[in-house]
Amino acid sequence: MRASNLFRLGLLLSSMAAAVASCSKDEPFVLQTSGGGGAGGNGGEGGAFVDNGKLLFEALEPDLTAACASCHEPNGLGDAPFLALPDRYSSVLSWPGVVTADPQQSLFLTYSVAGAGHTGTNLDGDPSLMAKVEEWLTAESKAIVAPVEEGTPTLPAFTPILGLNVVYLAPLDKDLEGVAIAFTASKLTETSLKLEGLEVYTTATTGLHVVHPVFAVYPKGEDPTADPADSFSGLDARFDEGTVGPLGVGTLILTNWKAEAKLGLGFELAEPYVSSAGTGGMGGGGGTVEGGCADVASFDANALPALTNSCVNCHGGNNGQATAALDLSDLANNSGAACAQVKNRVNFGNPQASQLFITTDPGGNAGHPFKFGGNAGAFQGFRDNVTVWIESEP
Ligand code: HEC
Ligand code: HEC
Repeated sequence: MRASNLFRLGLLLSSMAAAVASCSKDEPFVLQTSGGGGAGGNGGEGGAFVDNGKLLFEALEPDLTAACASCHEPNGLGDAPFLALPDRYSSVLSWPGVVTADPQQSLFLTYSVAGAGHTGTNLDGDPSLMAKVEEWLTAESKAIVAPVEEGTPTLPAFTPILGLNVVYLAPLDKDLEGVAIAFTASKLTETSLKLEGLEVYTTATTGLHVVHPVFAVYPKGEDPTADPADSFSGLDARFDEGTVGPLGVGTLILTNWKAEAKLGLGFELAEPYVSSAGTGGMGGGGGTVEGGCADVASFDANALPALTNSCVNCHGGNNGQATAALDLSDLANNSGAACAQVKNRVNFGNPQASQLFITTDPGGNAGHPFKFGGNAGAFQGFRDNVTVWIESEP
């Protein structure tokens, strides 16, 4: 591939969208829409795009809140706080799987309905609310820009949450299961979004080779525009198996941000990487993995019981996605290996801000499927125990 001269920032800018559409076939271009055709590209039915999603949501918000918020606010029974205040609309937009390109695939219509296993109130129990929700989800789906071309290494666009985001790379390549990029998002102004603490998480078996990642903003109903600074243009980095490392300088400010937009992330290249150290270590070197724990005894005494009670059920092998992200399958037999995995998710400078806790805090907005059933006391007990070990790791 003539990558270096083809992968030009100019190609990424929406002002070039029309030109790109006609000459993109063999180019390693990322983050473009498949439709082509500049502004109005989504107006498939001919009319101009009208973003009435927010209005429709506001109209049904009181009924939805009455039916669902008791369990779906932070600390609610549902472990899925998609109706968090102060802004329930932003909260619901960023909940994974609620606003989908095909509205019929929304978790609201596939999960919170009779017969799908939902513990709480079902939407189809109230046909008028159900109809309003469908109308709203349909409006939101129209605001989702057409997916990128097949074969380009670009992740599906997602609505970031203000806080910790973890983006998995498996949609690019099945062999990247569990490999993720994490960052903390905060809004600087209405038109700029700061991403900091950008880090790559590999798994025990899969490293990552990444070249030129590009973030892009997908405003509702408009063509996406790439990071105007092309912050990672020179980046070509390899991350060994079982490690965490900063992505470039680890910080990025998107000055093309728009309220309620989605984020896209594409790459010139993102592929599994096998380091020689990794293959040796996996084979049977046993003992210390790179980044292993120094105080396994304290881990065993303080963290192991808490992890066994709350996390092993999914992270011990039963749930492939969970185990790829954080592998606790060796917890009982070889706690040193499990400790190294857990250590990867710890922020030693500020233990309370560890990913381990942010993702499972029932009061937080992270999209993790387990939050202690909304029980803040149980979460604090877990955090306290695990923190005893964190503080004993040198
Ligand atoms: C009485 C508590 C309760 C109420 C009320 C409730 N839910 Fe739930 N909901 C749960 C629980 C508990 C779960 C976790 C999985 C399960 O047990 O179904 C859940 C899970 C969900 C999920 C899956 C989230 C995910 O990310 O996997 C969706 C979607 C959902 N609920 C939608 C709704 C909607 C919409 C309403 C209102 C019409 C509602 N729920 C009302 C208890 C409730
Ligand atoms: C109901 C299943 C389930 C349980 C129980 C569970 N997890 Fe997870 N966890 C997952 C899944 C699935 C993922 C993979 C990524 C995703 O879909 O968010 C994950 C990912 C993670 C991650 C990676 C970061 C992220 O947000 O993706 C961390 C850290 C984590 N879990 C910690 C924990 C801890 C700590 C516990 C116990 C207190 C726990 N998990 C219990 C299912 C679970």
